[in-house]
Amino acid sequence: MIILGIETSCDETAICIIETDESSAGPKIKILGNQLYSQIALHTQYGGVFPMMAKREHVKNLTPILEKCLEESKIIEFGKKKNLPEEKTEKVKNILIREQGLFEPFIELAEKIESAKWNKKIDAIAVTNGPGLEPALWVGVSFAKALSEVLNVPIIPTNHMEGHIVVASLNKIADKEFELKKINFPAIALLISGGHTQLVLVKDNLKYEIIGNTKDDAIGEAFDKVARILGLAYPGGPLISKLAEKERTEFPNKVPPFPLPRPMIHSHDLNFSFSGIKTAVLYTVQKIPIMTEEIKQEIAREFEDAVVEVIIKKTKEAIEQYGAQTVIIGGGVSANKKIRNDFTTLAEDLNIECLVPEISASTDNAFMIALAGYINIKAGKKPETEFKAMGNLTL
Ligand code: KG4
Ligand code: ZN
Repeated sequence: MIILGIETSCDETAICIIETDESSAGPKIKILGNQLYSQIALHTQYGGVFPMMAKREHVKNLTPILEKCLEESKIIEFGKKKNLPEEKTEKVKNILIREQGLFEPFIELAEKIESAKWNKKIDAIAVTNGPGLEPALWVGVSFAKALSEVLNVPIIPTNHMEGHIVVASLNKIADKEFELKKINFPAIALLISGGHTQLVLVKDNLKYEIIGNTKDDAIGEAFDKVARILGLAYPGGPLISKLAEKERTEFPNKVPPFPLPRPMIHSHDLNFSFSGIKTAVLYTVQKIPIMTEEIKQEIAREFEDAVVEVIIKKTKEAIEQYGAQTVIIGGGVSANKKIRNDFTTLAEDLNIECLVPEISASTDNAFMIALAGYINIKAGKKPETEFKAMGNLTL
């Protein structure tokens, strides 16, 4: 089966084409094409992501990324441009009516597709329909609908958070080739990203219950805000992590000179709060007359230690409470080295399996969306045509 995944929920415009092989017991997944355009450089200038700016960038980049991805996949050989039937062009125009500037480049590519020779056929399109920034999501959803019209291929609306979960269950077997692992259920998934901090009970394949949530900021948001307070660029997560690691290597036994709270660590529930610790960092920094690289390093380490301690403790509680056999981490913050190490150690201590996505598949990408689409199709999910983008879609 060949699936084309589309992801535009935040600040990455991404398209991925995968081919699956079900001839063996565990299905194999091969990446045929994988293109991603990150808007980070643009958003860095403004210190965060503005939804309307993200939307404009998706509009600009989706069509060239699709063309590149199709070329990379070699499933198609483009021919000369050929007009689409008038009725089809009208339909596409209507579908893209709210995405100003998308119709013209899209139809130009569609005309190249119209006369193309297909070496392999795309069986389905999987597109993120939430959660995320709604104007950004809509671009991907409309684009998927227009492409579905041109290619005559069904669409599976796909949950972004499910993408973050399923991509952790892959085993790399060769370059761009993976095997889908069998998960021992129940599993506890910790989803940590710029918009989410959730503990999810995964009862079975694609069966979720959210058992813990943040009451305010998401953990990635806290990383980014603390980075901003320290004068670091957006997105701050990776930069904080780098500073923290440097401090740990240089001064393994240093007592933290600026201790921070471990928010809600003794709350006896599975919820989180990361807004207070960000404010604590702000007050700490305001009291420091001259900020130095050394102090930044100390604060970054203490901040990372504090939040990781909290997520480890809460996840451990969830694992014990639900008798989980597997722990999964997913979402952009799961790219964090300390988090990956500490969760691996936690799983070893509890004698359960730990599933962690490849670093490159931790942050937003379309591979995870194509994969989630595939797993849903195999589970019997039916394609949809009239679905919407939903900013606050839940699992
Ligand atoms: O999942 P993601 O790519 O986008 C959302 O769906 O939000 O997550 C992005 C978040 C950002 O807040 C970014 O700072 C954080 O993931 N992040 C990290 C690291 N890499 C990315 N946070 C901590 N350490 C990292 N190494
Ligand atoms: Zn994400």
